[in-house]
Order: sequence, then C-alpha cells, then structure tokens
Amino acid sequence: MSKRYRIAVIPGDGTGPEVIREGLKVLQAVSRKNGFTIETVFYDLGGERYLRTGEVLPDSVLAELKTVDAIYLGAIGHPDVKPGILEKGILLRIRFELDQYINLRPVKLYPGVETPLKDKGPEHVDFVVIRENSGGIYTGMGGLTMAGTSNEVATQIMLYTRPVVERCLRYAFDYTKRRNRKKMLTLVHKTNVLTYCGDLWWRVFNAIGEEPAYREIRRDYNHVDACTMWFVKQPEWYDVVVTENLFGDIITDLAAIIQGGLGIAAGGNINPTGVSMFEPMGGSAPKYTGQNVINPLAAISAGGMMLEVLGETAAASAIEQAIQQVTGTKIKSMAAGKMGYSTSQVGDLVAERV
Ligand code: IPM
Ligand code: MN
Repeated sequence: MSKRYRIAVIPGDGTGPEVIREGLKVLQAVSRKNGFTIETVFYDLGGERYLRTGEVLPDSVLAELKTVDAIYLGAIGHPDVKPGILEKGILLRIRFELDQYINLRPVKLYPGVETPLKDKGPEHVDFVVIRENSGGIYTGMGGLTMAGTSNEVATQIMLYTRPVVERCLRYAFDYTKRRNRKKMLTLVHKTNVLTYCGDLWWRVFNAIGEEPAYREIRRDYNHVDACTMWFVKQPEWYDVVVTENLFGDIITDLAAIIQGGLGIAAGGNINPTGVSMFEPMGGSAPKYTGQNVINPLAAISAGGMMLEVLGETAAASAIEQAIQQVTGTKIKSMAAGKMGYSTSQVGDLVAERV
C-alpha cells in the first residue's frame, strides 16, 4: 500500500490561501509521480475567524493538530486585529505546544533570482540557519510594574535551560554532518555581553563539538552584530549557522533578502520526534490579497521542506529542481505583480516540472 500523509492545512489570512493553493497543487503533482498520497484537513484559523467568533486557536483544534503528520501554514496577520493576538495565539502557540524547537531556514539564492548583494550569485549564497524556536525571550517571562507611572519598569527575560540549548545544538551538529558540505557550524551569539546565556551556549557548543561523533565538524563563532555584516560581505563563508531564538528571528530576515526576499524564503518549525509545521516566511500581504499576483514560490518551497522532513527526499528534491528551473528560465522578478505570471500560473509552471 502506498504511503499516506495526513496534512493539516492552515491557509490563514490575506494572501495565505492563494499561495497555499499553489503549494498544494505542486504537492499533489509530485505525490502522484512518487507514489504517495497527501490527505489534507483544512483549518479555518486567522484574523477573519477571530473577528467573526472571537476564537483564536480552540483547544480542540490544537489537540487535532497534534495527531497529523505535518502542518502546512499560509500566513497569519490581519490589518484589523491588534498586533500580537494572532501571532502569539496561533503561530507561537503552535510552535510551543507542539514543541517545534527548531526553526530551519535554508538560505539559497536560486538561478535568476535577484539579490541586493553586489557581485554575488547562486555560487555565493547557500547556507542554512538553525534558529532555536522554543526558548529565550519568546518564552514571555518578565513583567511590567508601576505601569503608567514615570518610574515604570519592564523586564523580558532571555530564558534558557541547558537541555533546551543542548537539544538545539545537537540537532545543528547532526544537521551539519548530514548536509556534508563544508562541515562547518557557526554559533551566533553575543558572548561578550550576554555572559550568562551566551556562556551557556558557548560551553555546550564546545562540549558537544568535542564528542567523537562530531570531531569532523569545524566550529566557528560570530557575535550576532558582526554576523549581520558578514552575511552581506561574505555569505559564501557560511555552511550551517545556529543561534538562539530572537537573534535567529532577526538574522533570518536579513538572510531572506539575501536570497531574493519573502517571495522565495521558506521555513520549517520542526519537532524532530513530533509534528512539524512549514510556512513561507512572508506575511499575509493584505494589499495583494485576492489579486492572483503574489509569489507562491516560498509556499511551494515550504511544501518541499515538509516532504524532506517526512522522508520523501526524492519528491522534495524534485520540487527544488522544478523551482530552480522556473526561477532560472521563466520568472522575471520575485516581487508580487512583477513576476510576468500570475500566482496560479507560477504554481502550474512548477507543477508541470516536478
Ligand atoms: C517569524 C515571525 C514570528 C517570529 C512572528 C510573526 C511572531 O517574525 O516567524 O520569524 O517572531 O518568530
Ligand atoms: Mn521573523
């Protein structure tokens, strides 16, 4: 019997449904060719539902999300909803409750895609950022006291336990080994100032790196501020980068523009032993909603990452090859409205080539 995967699909807000439709088109095409089946279960979550019913993420939905093989997410964010409600209530809640402790962000410049970096091409931009996705400032510890007075005090704590640091770094070392390129893992932190959290990451990084299984991996280190300069000046230096949650959030936006922007950048929220969630990095892009002009390649690429993690490596690489053919020979620009094709035509171009 052929393999079946049950995928929870959360199209979400704005242009989310448009890009997810193309992603599913490609997933269905590649599944037929590779002899497996994708069964989708749709969930209506996002700003529209919140405005209609007041519900953000019902517990019953969360419970169902824990039972699927993977989650495929479009975009969350609505202009009429106060910032933070949907992001915290849906996206971050799923990441935390499903313990998706790795945020995997490949940074690859495909042929034909324009980068703002002068004199850099696909041969210079091909690395992966592993962002710790469950700890740090995102845990929401801290508080506000004497609110509204002239002396009010706000704290927001960067919280890390050794096990949380260790599981992320182990994943990063294993990933670097599996990737089998330069075999170099760069830790990004701020050990010169964050002498508690930075030191913990630094010590665990070196302790794991000394284990016989990882001796072949070269250890490299950047302070996060310096890393932003080096990403721009010398992206070809990097192989795999690992960092804590907030630093990872920031440097992966920089990385996204290096690879051509939000039209192409995708990410995976991974629980290596549980349910993972895959998403284009871009937001809901309200001003392009319903126009069939948004670039679906990031969502299509997120679908490819999902297959890779599910173990369908041949199908995943077929998607990546097809995307590269389309960027290299067809699409004029990655920007919404400037591709030379509509959203659904770009989906067709990739689907025909998988
Ligand atoms: C991301 C986003 C989220 C984050 C927001 C929307 C909460 O910026 O996935 O990088 O900060 O993690
Ligand atoms: Mn971000």
